[in-house]
Amino acid sequence: MKDEHRESSIQPATLADWVTDAGRRTLDLIADLADEQLVGPRLATINPPLWEIGHLAWFTEKWVLRYAGARAPLRADADALYDSAAVAHATRWDLPLPPRDDTLDYLRRVRECVFEVVQRGPSPAETYFVLLSIFHEDMHGEAFLYTRQTLGYPAPNLTQSGPRASESATAGGPLPGDVEIPGGTFLLGADPAETFVFDNEKWIHPVELSSFMIARAPVTQSQFAEFVEAGGYSRRELWTATGWRWREASEARHPVYWQRDGRGWRRRDFGYWVALEPHRPVIHVNWHEADAYCRWAGRRLPTEAEWEAAAATRRDSLSAPKLRFPWGDRPPDTTRAQLDGNCPGCCDVAERPAGDSDWGCRQMIGNVWEWTASDFGPYPGFVADPYREYSQPWFGTHKVLRGGAWPTRARLLRNTWRNFYTPDRRDVWAGFRTCALEV
Ligand SMILES: [Fe+2]
Repeated sequence: MKDEHRESSIQPATLADWVTDAGRRTLDLIADLADEQLVGPRLATINPPLWEIGHLAWFTEKWVLRYAGARAPLRADADALYDSAAVAHATRWDLPLPPRDDTLDYLRRVRECVFEVVQRGPSPAETYFVLLSIFHEDMHGEAFLYTRQTLGYPAPNLTQSGPRASESATAGGPLPGDVEIPGGTFLLGADPAETFVFDNEKWIHPVELSSFMIARAPVTQSQFAEFVEAGGYSRRELWTATGWRWREASEARHPVYWQRDGRGWRRRDFGYWVALEPHRPVIHVNWHEADAYCRWAGRRLPTEAEWEAAAATRRDSLSAPKLRFPWGDRPPDTTRAQLDGNCPGCCDVAERPAGDSDWGCRQMIGNVWEWTASDFGPYPGFVADPYREYSQPWFGTHKVLRGGAWPTRARLLRNTWRNFYTPDRRDVWAGFRTCALEV
């Protein structure tokens, strides 16, 4: 049996909790939306939420029940409606989608069957595909949330979830400065001892790093406002050729959800306009905007190997066994990382000092996804996992992001986790941190 079906150390009780929790989050994300909001406008970056609910049910059914469990489909029309690899994105608004109640009923029936699998004791293959379907639902949860931001819907009421700690967050503010990381051989990628990894993280392999200096914190909204005020969006020399073409076509003059407010700026937070919080990370900027900021600031984006080295190594050696999270191997909690949607939005970049990496970089996990300089590509020896459309179709066209954002589910993440979007996406929960040009 292939390595993705290795015996899992995830207990059935944890699996059951995660199935319940993922399902509750999905319902939270759509419960208050009217039927017409569940369809929404035809945009390249989002799906009709009604389709996305059915797609979650279909994906889980396809892998856990039909593929691993060899069961017959619950709905004869599910493949024709909800297979994301077969149903072209632009046509999803034209499909004969079942109404909300039928769609939710499909989701509920699939979840009940998955529960039966978990409670009778799943096989290693079933465990793998239950985890895959939970993580798939978690990722779509982030997409539901940015869909709501894109469309100006109100913020949803999210049930508090995930690991929490009683200690409250520390005061905010800025966190200036870099840390210097000496060069050497770094081991990039996931260790085969991990319980579950996506194919694009496999496997750990040596890469050579030169010494570099990386910011302790992501770029803040006030720092990005300086770039905007300095005419950064009209200075051709700050942009790559592709970036400038994007800027001209989009007529972008500032981050997508910003609006001038007297002498300052405000930003749209779901359905409301709020004053820009100076020390929160800039968010909803695309790779081109991040790259242009870096050129203006005399900085650069980190490569994904640099990012991972700053998050996952100890000061004594780049090549020592890596840490699973910046602070060590304990799972994230609320003192260490802004995750799980437990706070509605980002926190200041100086918050969560308990989550610092051994090098002193803060919030590498949580708050905002961080664009890296790296193109999304396969690691040496890449082999696609059964869900073949997850990584491979996107190699070469997407940029890598690292770390997770405030709505990302903690259970999904680790230092080696690779996210990927096309460089023009401004709707996702992405910001960035920078490196010095020279050490
Ligand atoms: Fe999907």
